[in-house]
Amino acid sequence: MESKRVAAEKAVEYIRDGMVVGLGTGSTTYWAIQKLGQKVKSGLSINAVATSINSENLAKELGIPLISISKIEEIDITIDGADEVDDEWNLIKGGGGALLREKIVASFSNELIIVVDESKKVNRLGKFPLPVELVKFGYEVTQKKISKLGCVTKLRIVDNKPFITDNGNYIVDCDFGNIDHPKDLHTAINMIPGVVDNGLFIKIATKVIVGYQDGSIVDL
Ligand code: 5RP
Repeated sequence: MESKRVAAEKAVEYIRDGMVVGLGTGSTTYWAIQKLGQKVKSGLSINAVATSINSENLAKELGIPLISISKIEEIDITIDGADEVDDEWNLIKGGGGALLREKIVASFSNELIIVVDESKKVNRLGKFPLPVELVKFGYEVTQKKISKLGCVTKLRIVDNKPFITDNGNYIVDCDFGNIDHPKDLHTAINMIPGVVDNGLFIKIATKVIVGYQDGSIVDL
């Protein structure tokens, strides 16, 4: 999709020789990883940290050198997608189920560049159901407690089976409607035992690049 590709490729322009680069997950980041692969073939020297097994496999295929997160103190720039971005650059992430590793990698990153197509830019978060990662043990109880915060919850099912994250956990998608206080909601959800993390990323993004279908971009 053109809008995703142009945003992702713009973000790659910020990557310089010698950097440690975080690779996000999803169909927008896919284009950034492809572009990085081309640049590595032409001589760009980077080390990358992947946020999912899918992105790791793609990077390997393209010959992008990978480094373990345990071996580094910081990441220079991470390029990642989002399901929603509000006016204050709060995000909903986790549509692809990689929210936990994405948040860990983002927290190590000096810069987090978010690449999205125009449909992801919203005034207020909440149209996209918020993904929450939770451990399997007692997940029904955990799910009930989350729903008491005021949402309709749905265990994520793929191919007639519960979706399992790269960390061996479940995802529950939570429809809260408009989210007026994302920071408070983030804290409330993560206080529930059994919750590993949720897809709200509060003011971690340092840049947002929006791509449009006609090939134009807005670099915020
Ligand atoms: C994966 C994510 C993705 O970044 C998010 O779902 C956006 O994906 P896409 O670029 O395919 O629309 O958070 O966990």
